[in-house]
Amino acid sequence: MHKKAIECIAVLTSGGDAPGMNAAIRAVTRAALANNVKVFGCNYGFQGMIENDFLKLSYQDIGGIIGLGGTILKTARCEKFTTVEGREQAYKNLKQRNIDGVVVIGGDGTFKGAAQFSSEFDIPFIGIPGTIDNDISGTDYTIGFDTALNTVVQAVDKIKDTARSHGRIFFVEAMGREAGLLALGSGLACGAEVILIPEVLEQEKELDKFIQKGLVDKKSSGIIMVAEGYKTGGALKIAERVKAQHPDIEARVTILGHIQRGGNPTAQDRIAATRMGVAAINSLLAGKKNLMIGLKNKAIVEVPFGLAEKAYRPINREFVDIQEVITRT
Ligand code: F6P
Repeated sequence: MHKKAIECIAVLTSGGDAPGMNAAIRAVTRAALANNVKVFGCNYGFQGMIENDFLKLSYQDIGGIIGLGGTILKTARCEKFTTVEGREQAYKNLKQRNIDGVVVIGGDGTFKGAAQFSSEFDIPFIGIPGTIDNDISGTDYTIGFDTALNTVVQAVDKIKDTARSHGRIFFVEAMGREAGLLALGSGLACGAEVILIPEVLEQEKELDKFIQKGLVDKKSSGIIMVAEGYKTGGALKIAERVKAQHPDIEARVTILGHIQRGGNPTAQDRIAATRMGVAAINSLLAGKKNLMIGLKNKAIVEVPFGLAEKAYRPINREFVDIQEVITRT
């Protein structure tokens, strides 16, 4: 028996927003419409699916959004979708609109929800990775990472001006609850003296070496990049420890916070989002399900949801080694 062709899909964004999500919504919608597939946007992620909060999307609705930060479909982290009742309600709402495929844009929590749903119901889901953390296994890249990286670099360049002027050490905290890739990449790009990330514990020795050497050489300014999820505490905690040990050092803390999630997506994020959006529709039309679209060695790949998880993503060890070499004095 032939599988029924896809005629109507829903697209949603879920979890933390990331610059480039709008570009992905646009690509998914345009690729679907180009194949005569109807599209509904689902507001606030899975929450909107449960609360029946859908809107039909036309070419006009997604006009001019490729360069906008945030997500026009809003986003949420939805507890209710982790319950059977929540998912049953969501299924009823999808069925009522004859939605026969769903594209979810988000992080690993989003894919977990999608995988659970697809194991219970007969509607195929395809995922697109969107998170500034770039911490999903199976893909080299997640939408939003490059924009966030550039946001951090611009901010730290400014901080360096004032750090130099006053002879201060700045502890700058980059986002990443469990992932250090943003701190690692931006730290390299800014010439940070030390980078502290959850994946590499021994880096705190480097901080002590830098402080000791700075005291001897009278080097008075520098950037210590700390990932939010660093195991012994974020930038505030680390700065407190250093200040307690060296009261003469002028230290300041800057927590960059949600500024890293906003802003117009870079060209890299727009292109990645557009490629992944079109690939997601191609996969649905080809009868595929329960997989994430990823980028591996710059090529589009399909990764089963089960392998698209936070825990499997290894840190780029080459970056850690480079940092050690270029800060060795
Ligand atoms: O996962 C993206 C992210 O920005 C993390 O880097 C950060 O720890 C978290 O989301 C913050 O979440 P919220 O927006 O709920 O404060």
